[in-house]
Amino acid sequence: MTMAAIQTDVTVHEMPQTPHPIIEVDGISKLYGDVQALKDINLQFETGHLTSLLGPSGCGKTTLLKIIAGLLQPTEGEVRVKGQAIDGPGRERAFVFQDFALMPWASVLDNAAFGLKMQGLGKAERRERARHYVAEVGLSGFEDSFPHQLSGGMRQRVGLARALAVDADVLLMDEPFSAVDEQTRRKFQEDLMHLREVEKKTFLFVTHSIEEAVYVSDRIVLLSPRPGRLSDIIEPDIPRNVDPDRLRRDSGYLDTVEMIWSSIRKYVE
Ligand SMILES: Nc1ncnc2c1ncn2[C@@H]1O[C@H](COP(=O)(O)OP(=O)(O)OP(=O)(O)O)[C@@H](O)[C@H]1O
Ligand SMILES: [Mg+2]
Repeated sequence: MTMAAIQTDVTVHEMPQTPHPIIEVDGISKLYGDVQALKDINLQFETGHLTSLLGPSGCGKTTLLKIIAGLLQPTEGEVRVKGQAIDGPGRERAFVFQDFALMPWASVLDNAAFGLKMQGLGKAERRERARHYVAEVGLSGFEDSFPHQLSGGMRQRVGLARALAVDADVLLMDEPFSAVDEQTRRKFQEDLMHLREVEKKTFLFVTHSIEEAVYVSDRIVLLSPRPGRLSDIIEPDIPRNVDPDRLRRDSGYLDTVEMIWSSIRKYVE
């Protein structure tokens, strides 16, 4: 069994911590009227790590991501970025929406450059930076295309290029790969792991796919059904530098998938 750690919400607070996690989620609860979406969430995020949030529909994944992004106020608790409590969105955090919210009237390049104007960059520099990230997500040659001329998967890449271009330290991604076929999704997963290597960014990633979470994550945070609470934290200990097809047949990988399945089965039975 290569599963590194399973910790319940009782032991989560005692996880070994480096002195300055880039993001700290401290005692977050969220009520929408009478509906309790999240209850007492405590988490730390280390620079350069990729964490997945997994949990049943309605358990508060999007809510938690939006609170970390500063787009939504918690009812209780606070989020700190580099030790400072946040009071709204900030440049160091980029939120990647599920549908990527592209501007249909703007080219791929202009969509990717969206967000840079607010940072006060001149036009030439904005275009240069956008061009770099459009290439990095594999869309060279499509800079002047419009969203309607792209496939769903390509549109998602434009959204990713936009999030990378603003050069945030933390990328908050809400089910970014949900709308594409399995083959494209696998390519994305590999691209994501490559980006994490070259960009050294911190990723927080919502997914419904256990296999995807195990494949891409340093750590998987499992939430319980509403009100969402920390249920388990799993750190898949699987070889990263092997051929992807081999990795998917790795016994450690398969065991971790199965272990998460059995952990969440109790919620669906
Ligand atoms: N703006 C809102 N007003 C009232 N209730 C809300 C609002 N947004 C979310 N909720 C409720 O809070 C709970 C958590 O919602 P959230 O969207 O965070 O779940 P989720 O885990 O992202 O679900 P899914 O997997 O389906 O995307 C749900 O019960 C939802 O009905
Ligand atoms: Mg959601």
